Amino acid sequence: MEYQLCPSILSADFNRLGEQIQTLEGQGLKWLHIDVMDGDFVPSISFGMPLIRSIRRESKMFFDVHLMVTEPERYIQDFAACGADSITVHAEACEDLERTVERIRDAGVKAAIALKPATSVMEVNYLLHDIDMLLLMTVHPGFGGQKYIEDSTDKIIQARQMLKEEGVEIPIQVDGGINEQTLPLVLEAGASRIVAGSYVFGGDMIENIKKIQEIMDPYVDRA
Ligand code: DX5
Ligand code: ZN
Repeated sequence: MEYQLCPSILSADFNRLGEQIQTLEGQGLKWLHIDVMDGDFVPSISFGMPLIRSIRRESKMFFDVHLMVTEPERYIQDFAACGADSITVHAEACEDLERTVERIRDAGVKAAIALKPATSVMEVNYLLHDIDMLLLMTVHPGFGGQKYIEDSTDKIIQARQMLKEEGVEIPIQVDGGINEQTLPLVLEAGASRIVAGSYVFGGDMIENIKKIQEIMDPYVDRA
């Protein structure tokens, strides 16, 4: 299993966004987590296509676009066209989840499904063979800097078990409240795509990334 730290630019300093993305690339990071919020599926509004299009011109990172948007099917083409490499949609936000996943695939990008903390992993059992990643929210979607929900650890274990039973080898991504204390819990439970926003961008980014990598390294070596 390949491990990736996926910094969420929601916590970046937008006045220096390009520079901060260069810092991430300079540290050898490959994934960039991009949180799009519509003010409807979640209370807050973040940013959309113009921002992604402009950072795409300067960055070779893998753009992991997390859509916290009602009926995301409407925007799949647009996000693919502005540079997404992977599009994640919320199971709770789609009228027809299966068709939305199909649209993402038709657009030629990777497809992932996200689940809110209260949504059971069993809800997407039937689609596991059609997706490239499963995102388990470890906070309520909508804002950076929240506290990790403890029950998430068991949910990750349950999802890992379900994937094994189904014979599906896709990574589990976790998103929300990841820091030095919670990272070991999610890694031990079986997550391998680790989103972190406030932890990475708060203070000295290089120091923060090094601390995360130190904790992740034993898992990367074991993989
Ligand atoms: C929350 C977003 C997260 C958020 C994580 O709705 O999906 O990606 O940026 O932020 P932290 O790591 O600060 O909890
Ligand atoms: Zn996210």
